[in-house]
Amino acid sequence: MEPSKEFMFKYKGFYFGVNTSAEHVASLENFEIKDSDIFIATYPKSGKNGTVSKEEINLPLFNHLIQTIERYFFFLCGFNSEPLNLKPCNISDISVPVVLQIIYVTRNPKDVLVSYYHFSKFITTLEEVPDFNIFMERFLAGKVLASSWFDHVAGWYGHAEDFNILFLTYEDMKKDLRSAVLKICNFLGKKLSEEEIESVVRQATFENMKKDPRANYENLPDDIADKSKGRFLRKGTVGDWKNMMTVAQSERFDEALNEKIKTLPIKITWDMN
Ligand code: A3P
Repeated sequence: MEPSKEFMFKYKGFYFGVNTSAEHVASLENFEIKDSDIFIATYPKSGKNGTVSKEEINLPLFNHLIQTIERYFFFLCGFNSEPLNLKPCNISDISVPVVLQIIYVTRNPKDVLVSYYHFSKFITTLEEVPDFNIFMERFLAGKVLASSWFDHVAGWYGHAEDFNILFLTYEDMKKDLRSAVLKICNFLGKKLSEEEIESVVRQATFENMKKDPRANYENLPDDIADKSKGRFLRKGTVGDWKNMMTVAQSERFDEALNEKIKTLPIKITWDMN
């Protein structure tokens, strides 16, 4: 079952949502990046909101925040303003200043898949695919918004030497949030007091973010999010795929991705079994 054109279109080989257009993407190829810009790049559902919670921004860790999916930038223009202003852009055609700092977050792709599956039910601008098997096949074929997980991760790691990138994993952040916050501060050259660090760590935990209606995007209008079907901050755990995927599905996933994953220049700390 192919993805419905009602929800996505392909531009330069990459799947975009119909909340934008090819013309709009093309128009942003000359987007000017400022030296002070910071990019948070992730494949969807890898924990970008947890990486840089609004509270961290308010401290302020960042002059302004740009969240990117490769070639697809989410500009969250003012976190209190609704609706979100989504603008995509093609990074490959941009001359990137060397001082630009990029934080790239990866997550166990099986957890990404499961999170994405639930997210697609909840967000009305994404095609809901009730059959998990079909959704998984689309994910493995890269026929979902933001295209292939593997290409995305391989693409960013392939640019490790070209840009100033801090690579983080969702799993490491879950294991030791404080270390992750310190790494981010160190990378950005921001010195926070002990109190500020404590505050960031406290506010960036899943439990505390979930209590915050803004962090949980609870003010999204009903025509974007069907709140009866889910929420942004869903479970926030490592290994939830084990509650969802059958042994056969997990084996099928491994068969499609494991050999490819081994070619990535990263030390895999995810539990794929
Ligand atoms: P689950 O669906 O597994 O719960 P993104 O922000 O890139 O869209 O990723 C969303 C995933 O990250 C969701 O995963 C969400 O619950 C999780 N997440 C977001 N903020 C988090 C936090 N502070 N701590 C842990 N997980 C978080």
